Amino acid sequence: MTQTLCVEDVHVTFKNATIIDGMSLTVDDDEFVSIVGTSGCGKTTFLRALGGLLPLSSRIGRAELHGEPLRTPEPRVAMVFQHFGLFPWKTVEENILYGVRVQHRQEPTERVQRLLDVMHLDDARRKYPRQLSGGMKQRTGIARALVLEPELLLLDEPLSAVDAITREVMQQEVIHLIESEPRTALLVTHDLDEAIIMSDRIVVLGGPPAHVVLDVRSPIDRPRTLESVRSHPDYLTLRKELWSALEAGRAAA
Ligand SMILES: Nc1ncnc2c1ncn2[C@@H]1O[C@H](COP(=O)(O)OP(=O)(O)O)[C@@H](O)[C@H]1O
Ligand SMILES: [Mg+2]
Repeated sequence: MTQTLCVEDVHVTFKNATIIDGMSLTVDDDEFVSIVGTSGCGKTTFLRALGGLLPLSSRIGRAELHGEPLRTPEPRVAMVFQHFGLFPWKTVEENILYGVRVQHRQEPTERVQRLLDVMHLDDARRKYPRQLSGGMKQRTGIARALVLEPELLLLDEPLSAVDAITREVMQQEVIHLIESEPRTALLVTHDLDEAIIMSDRIVVLGGPPAHVVLDVRSPIDRPRTLESVRSHPDYLTLRKELWSALEAGRAAA
């Protein structure tokens, strides 16, 4: 299989602290990979390095997307942030179209409408972020990324700031979107269940400095629903394996 994303030897140092010390990762085409790790282990820093939001002190040995080096800014990559990252002075629709307009692309009217529908944003399209709940803000963030049809989607704990019920609904919506139009995605989360529910493969990080403790393919195949995953015979075994790896990663840090 082709490797959509190939990152080798990422190093990030802030002041005197080494946050990432030589991390490597490859992701296949259309694979949904979750990176799990405890708070502060360097997950966001790793995604920011990939997304080209690099601090000056960082260095990537090699980062390629479909064989082409990752550049900055990188129009092939779209990122969804933990704290929404919406423009407060723009409406939902304008936020969603932001990347399209910056890249001087033709506005994909049908695609925007489909995303507004799937994400239940149609009634909110002319609202501003301050008028929205956390869930609606993040639906906008996800739509803004997906409208670009990125070769690589980076998701940094996109659901961690929404309430538990909305979170489950949105997990299901995102699974549905990804399964209906396959896309290579890297999700960072500290939530094991979210990782299991959404992913084809799960990478457990220890740290800092961030390092891979475990890299497993999920025994639970697509199509996935919250129900089907939780009632899968391998669910608990996988969860225990991930939990042990998290503990080991924390102990080693
Ligand atoms: N811009 C920065 N300057 C200094 N330290 C930072 C900066 N960004 C992150 N850190 C530190 O790097 C470590 C990893 O942070 P982060 O990547 O945000 O972790 P995670 O996303 O896994 O919770 C933390 O100790 C954090 O304080
Ligand atoms: Mg983070």
